[in-house]
Amino acid sequence: MSNFTTGVAELDSLLGNALSEGTLLLIAGCLGSGKTTLASSICYWNALKGRKCLYISLQEDKDKLFRNVRNLGMDFKELEDKNLLRFIKLPLMISKESIIDTFSRILKDTITSFNPNVLVIDSITPILKVIGNDIEARATLQNTLIEFSKLINGLTVLIHEVEGGGDGLGDVGFVSDVVIFTSCKVVNNLVLRSMEIRKSRGSPTRIAKIGFAIEEGEGIRVFLPPLLKEIPAPDYTKPHKHPCKSLDRKIGSIYPGELIFILHPTLAYIDYILAYITLIAIIYRGRVLVISYIIPPQHMIYGIRRGFERITAGVSITEELLSNYVRIEGLNPSAYLPEESMYEVLKLLREYNPDLIVFIGTPPLGITSTITEADYKDLTMNIILYLKKLRIATLIIDDHDVELVKSLSDIYIKVKSTSRSKVFRVPRVLVEVVRRGEAPYTVTLKDFILCAKDVRKTLKSVKESITK
Ligand SMILES: Nc1ncnc2c1ncn2[C@@H]1O[C@H](COP(=O)(O)OP(=O)(O)OP(=O)(O)O)[C@@H](O)[C@H]1O
Ligand SMILES: [Mg+2]
Repeated sequence: MSNFTTGVAELDSLLGNALSEGTLLLIAGCLGSGKTTLASSICYWNALKGRKCLYISLQEDKDKLFRNVRNLGMDFKELEDKNLLRFIKLPLMISKESIIDTFSRILKDTITSFNPNVLVIDSITPILKVIGNDIEARATLQNTLIEFSKLINGLTVLIHEVEGGGDGLGDVGFVSDVVIFTSCKVVNNLVLRSMEIRKSRGSPTRIAKIGFAIEEGEGIRVFLPPLLKEIPAPDYTKPHKHPCKSLDRKIGSIYPGELIFILHPTLAYIDYILAYITLIAIIYRGRVLVISYIIPPQHMIYGIRRGFERITAGVSITEELLSNYVRIEGLNPSAYLPEESMYEVLKLLREYNPDLIVFIGTPPLGITSTITEADYKDLTMNIILYLKKLRIATLIIDDHDVELVKSLSDIYIKVKSTSRSKVFRVPRVLVEVVRRGEAPYTVTLKDFILCAKDVRKTLKSVKESITK
């Protein structure tokens, strides 16, 4: 028989073979951290596959739980009608002497008559509270739990409420084969949930902590970081030349998987940068994904069209043509958790499969002040390395100098001045370029003007792809 599922594909793959028959799984965590939701998901998705689930509740009422899980996309009622799920609410027993006896008698009777493959006890905390520090009672409880898990020879899920970091798991944690610790904290006024795989007998896991959200109608959604052991190298066999001599001579070819960081304090020439990228995409027939944490998509579309007309001296680009080569997305940093925001990036990557990705602001949130937190640094590094591995050229344009991105970049470009020249009445652009391992040099306005001339010539030869 295959392993038991948690109902969350990513979590299943992390747990590997850990949830096999005879496993005792402990879900521990603080108040409202998602223990019941995870246990319900395990109960539901296994029952749906024909593995009967017995849900013993010492806390929640049937109606309430059924209503709540329904909102999360799990229909307990339907499975109950099909005799795949049974819910029993146990009264809170307070007598220390009778509690374990009564508990184990009711459970044994139900297990024998219903014959479940999955048993959920939500939660064992009230029982543990009643027996307190009575060593003998605790030992009896442990034995009883182990006995249940043998009796069903399936998956036994225990829920235990613990405060803070969950170091008080004690003996229950000790007898469990797998321990998942759920927690939540508030970040940027949003609830950041995470689960930690504290222990997982029989399955090696490299990732111990993952962020997740509980979504209306959807249930648990996890944000898995694409952790890599290696630092992948760009693909040096496939150089992409610039469509103009001046920039190609100075900046040099771009290789798939390279990271280019543009520090641009005012973002004043962002229209030109994006328009130039669009041109490259059209010329090479590549796909560009632009993710902005700062500028709204509509504004970028307007900017690209304007910049395009100026570079090409009058060739306009239709929105339709633009959308063939460039996908523009805006992510409002205040609406996402860092993990969630990273997840959105991964989702867009899968959907669009770009050759080049442009971030306006540094991922995962674009807000430099939050990047200083160690957690987000990990996420930023993860995204960058993952893109390298996928051999996607990455351009990060930020108005702040992000040390981490700078140190990971293959090409570091600093737009230095935005003041207008008194003589020529045009903006004075001074761009400093450093390619890793090479001496820095400066690209001037003249280089860009020469580039635009070249681009116009190149464009003529690919004119059929441009509609006037
Ligand atoms: N239908 C829903 N849609 C969105 N979020 C939900 C939904 N149902 C529950 N949640 C979120 O999940 C949180 C708690 O879930 P859950 O009941 O699984 O936690 P718990 O750890 O079992 O809590 P407790 O300690 O109270 O037993 C709720 O506080 C709520 O924020
Ligand atoms: Mg609960």
